[in-house]
Amino acid sequence: MSSRTVDAQDCAIVARGLTKRYGQLTVLDGVDLEIGHGEFVVLVGPSGSGKSTVLHLIAALEPADGGELIVAGQALHRHARGMSRFRRREIGIVFQLHNLIPRLTARENVEAAMFGTHRGHRERTDRATELLERLDLADRADERPTTMSGGERQRVAVARALANEPKVLLADEPTGSLDTASADIVLEIFAELIAGGTTILAVSHDARLNAHANRLVPIVAGKTEPAAP
Ligand SMILES: Nc1ncnc2c1ncn2[C@@H]1O[C@H](COP(=O)(O)OP(=O)(O)O)[C@@H](O)[C@H]1O
Ligand SMILES: [Mg+2]
Repeated sequence: MSSRTVDAQDCAIVARGLTKRYGQLTVLDGVDLEIGHGEFVVLVGPSGSGKSTVLHLIAALEPADGGELIVAGQALHRHARGMSRFRRREIGIVFQLHNLIPRLTARENVEAAMFGTHRGHRERTDRATELLERLDLADRADERPTTMSGGERQRVAVARALANEPKVLLADEPTGSLDTASADIVLEIFAELIAGGTTILAVSHDARLNAHANRLVPIVAGKTEPAAP
């Protein structure tokens, strides 16, 4: 256990002793993270070690069972109401399985992330179109996910995560389905986001992506390494 005390305001993400169970299964058993504003950190570890679960808790998609979690200045361990608003305003997430809405087109999937924000209809459409162009999907904008390749769906998921200019971007294997050219686009976007002060926490086995990270944080069997003394 680290004896340092960290001011949560100095960090975009602070987790202390985070635990999570699904029924009898303990998935997280002591996760500690301190991620500064504008840092790019990658969680690494074997399959089933709890990496995606960590991202889901940080995105306030589900509550932790124990420990403390502060994201963008907001304590999530009490898991109050209003979390979807918090998520939309502060957090962008690229899911490992993309989680696009099948009956909506690529553009509509990106637009839907902006419902309930300050952006009006026209602005949502323009921003979605712009993001899809940036991800080299201009000619796929009117397709539905079911008719797209895995790599195309992944890029739509990246566009959607960026729609509301999140302070914190969570990205679960964001280049996992991408060929080199598409991965290059995502790497370039991540580099720009970092330069602009966005915090990124990714899960990734992609050496090219990880080479851009400030640091890699190993997670094994639901535990991060104890902090160095
Ligand atoms: N909603 C859930 N219900 C039950 N078990 C789950 C659920 N989500 C994840 N798990 C289990 O938690 C463990 C960690 O999963 P996950 O966080 O997806 O690992 P990773 O992303 O490191 O591969 C796995 O054993 C997985 O089966
Ligand atoms: Mg995973």
